[in-house]
Amino acid sequence: MHLTKEEQDMLDGEHGYATQKSMEILTALGDIFGAEKMVPVTSVQIAGVSYHNLGDAGLEFLEDLSQDGKIRVLTTLNPAGMDLENWKNLGISEEFAEKQQKVIDAFSKFGVITTCTCTPYLIGNLPSYGQHIAWSESSAVAFSNSVIGARTNREGGPSALAASLTGRTPSYGLHLTENRQPRITVDFRSNLETPSDFGAAALAIGREVKDKIPLIRGVRKADVDQLKNFSSSFATYSGTAMYNMEGISPERFHEIPEEVVTIEESHLQEAKDFLNDDEEVDFVSIGCPHCSINEIAKIAQLLKDRKVKKETWITTARPVKQIADNVGYTKIIEESGAKFACDTCLAVAPLKGRFRAIATNSAKGCYYGRGSNGFKTKFMTLEKCIQEATS
Ligand code: F3S
Repeated sequence: MHLTKEEQDMLDGEHGYATQKSMEILTALGDIFGAEKMVPVTSVQIAGVSYHNLGDAGLEFLEDLSQDGKIRVLTTLNPAGMDLENWKNLGISEEFAEKQQKVIDAFSKFGVITTCTCTPYLIGNLPSYGQHIAWSESSAVAFSNSVIGARTNREGGPSALAASLTGRTPSYGLHLTENRQPRITVDFRSNLETPSDFGAAALAIGREVKDKIPLIRGVRKADVDQLKNFSSSFATYSGTAMYNMEGISPERFHEIPEEVVTIEESHLQEAKDFLNDDEEVDFVSIGCPHCSINEIAKIAQLLKDRKVKKETWITTARPVKQIADNVGYTKIIEESGAKFACDTCLAVAPLKGRFRAIATNSAKGCYYGRGSNGFKTKFMTLEKCIQEATS
């Protein structure tokens, strides 16, 4: 791979230990995937933050690099294993909390903004069209490639950190225009209203297109919350990190793929049926991906003067919760008995064995509820989740 003089100096250790180790990771990755050069990145989002997934070996790796490593571009984190302030109230053990805090401290030493969220684009880590970035979390990666038009592969935690410490990533995969071309046309013939409808549609489409980037035709309009839900579900149930939604995605391609699949109402119903198990719900979680302030406003409106009867979590980024604090939504939601779980989510918090069945408005949430925690799942709209929580 061709390296500039500065990149070669990094590899030779002239910019310090952590930069050298990072460049070793990136050149090895570039060699594996046949990259010809590095590209500068403008934004990084690092996953693998939960101590639950990282363990002691991961923590040691971070502490080793944090001796002299410093970020070169704006960098935020994916959800951690707990709410960094309110963990006790969410039933997290002291021992876990101590380890998780050490992980966050190591990231903090690098200069990373230790806001832990899978929706970095809602809290100011927002790249622009055509920029190269290095993001890790699958829904954010799909959102970036498909809705913003910024270019990223799905990075692992170490390669994203390495990109942050060098300001570079190897140029392969979705960084290259030719690899972003849709390969299959999806003729979409149904109406989508709620974000959960978008999640079900993405599941149905993802299963059909597998690892081919689809050109999706027939979705007339979509807002950010709907696209956030679509991106998370599409990334979970397909084998690719990008879609192109005609009239909505900013990137234009001249070729219409000849292979066509049709998705209609029956596919959406099948997707919804697949996500619904027959079990009584004892946990309600909304905010996968992390809630926007718009969703929190809706939840506050629905919970006003009501009490939840089941453990209910609203997962979001801390800066979004701070807006909710300021405008009074937090007070309404907490008075109902529902809990905010900032910085974390149902997939990365140590929840196994605590609940039997989860109700959520997220198709991705169902996947991880089942896979990571062994929960049965009920998939429903946000409004029905609140109804379930209060009944
Ligand atoms: Fe985000 Fe966790 Fe869902 S990382 S997309 S809230 S599984």
